[in-house]
Amino acid sequence: MIRSVVRGFGAALPKQVVTNRDLEARVDTTDEWIVQRTGIRQRYIAGEGETTASLGEAAARAALDRAGLTPADIDVIILATSTPDNTFPASAVNIQARLGMHHGAAFDIQAVCSGFVYAMATADAYIRGGLARRILVIGAETFSRIIDWNDRTTCVLFGDGAGAVVLEAGEGDGTIADRGILTAHLRSDGAHREKLYVDGGPSSTGTVGHLRMEGREVFKHAVGMITDVIEQAFEATGTTADDIDWLVPHQANRRIIDGSAKKLGIPPEKVVITVDLHGNTSAASIPLALNQAASDGRIKQGDLVLLEAMGGGFTWGSVLIRW
Ligand code: ACO
Repeated sequence: MIRSVVRGFGAALPKQVVTNRDLEARVDTTDEWIVQRTGIRQRYIAGEGETTASLGEAAARAALDRAGLTPADIDVIILATSTPDNTFPASAVNIQARLGMHHGAAFDIQAVCSGFVYAMATADAYIRGGLARRILVIGAETFSRIIDWNDRTTCVLFGDGAGAVVLEAGEGDGTIADRGILTAHLRSDGAHREKLYVDGGPSSTGTVGHLRMEGREVFKHAVGMITDVIEQAFEATGTTADDIDWLVPHQANRRIIDGSAKKLGIPPEKVVITVDLHGNTSAASIPLALNQAASDGRIKQGDLVLLEAMGGGFTWGSVLIRW
C-alpha cells in the first residue's frame, strides 16, 4: 500500500518581530488583554521585499535541504495560502520559478486557516493515486497585508510566515504502524461566511479588501468542529487520544487549542504550541509548528502526529500522520 511519508520539513519567518507592547503604540490595546485572551506575545510581520512567495520559497528550500533533495526531485508543488502575491498566477507557480523548476506542476489551495490540512490531504491523494512521487507542500501567508491595522479586534491576532514539508511515496502494510499519512478528513460549510471573511476581491469589489471577523462567533464553533474531524480520524484508524504522541493544531488562539485538547482528552504536554511566538499565521501555522517540534527533537520518527485546523468559510479538517 502506498503511503505519503514526510521526508523533510522547514520554515521561514520575516525579519521583523512585533511584540504586544509595539501594538500598544498603534491601537487601544494592552499586552495583558492580548496574552489573556489569545496567548499571543509576539508575531513576525513581513517587510519590504518579503512576500508569501519569498517566505514560501525559503521554507521550501529548508525542507528540501533537510530531505537531502533538490527541486529537480519534486513532481508537484501545492501551496496553501489566502494571501497570494498576485491574484494570478498562483504563488505556487511563482515559488516553482524561484526554485528554478521548469518541470512538474504547481498550484494554490485556498482554505484559509485550514489550508495546510487541505493541501496535505490533496497531496496524499495525488501520491496514493500515483499522480506524483514527491510533493512539496507549503503553507505561506502574509496576513499583515489584509489586516485593517486600525481594527484592534483583529490586528493583534495575526502574523506572517511559511512552513513546508516534502511528502514522498513509501510502501506500507496498510496498518497504523506504517509511516506516512494514515487518514485525512476535510469539511466546509459556506453558511458561516459572514463570521470570518475578507471584504474585497477581484470579482466583487476589484480591491484586495480587509479581514473581518466576529471573533466570539468563530470561537463558539471552533472546538466542536475541530473535535468532530478528529473523532473521524480516530474512527477511521481505530486509534484513540491515548495513541497520539503529538497534537499539532492550527495556532489561532491558546484558549481554542486548550479547549479542543481537553475535550479530546489529549494532555497539554502532548500539544505543540507556537501561537505565543508567531500569532495566527493561517495556513502557515501548522507547518511552522511542525518544523519547531521536529527540529527541537520532540517529534521523532514513528510518532503518531495529529494535525487539525479550522478557519474562514468555515473550513475544518484533520490529518493523522505516522512521522
Ligand atoms: N485590546 C483590548 N480590548 C479589546 C481588543 C484588543 N485588542 N479587542 C477587543 N477588545 C474589547 C472589545 O471591544 C470588548 O469590549 P467591550 O466589552 O467594551 O465591548 C471586549 O474586549 C471583549 O471583546 P470580545 O470580542 O467579546 O472578546 P473575546 O473574549 O471574545 O476575545 C477574541 C476576542 C480573542 C477574538 C476571541 O473571540 C477569539 O479568540 N475568537 C476566535 C478568533 C479566532 O481564533 N479566529 C481565527 C480562527 S480562524 C482563522 O484562524 C482565520
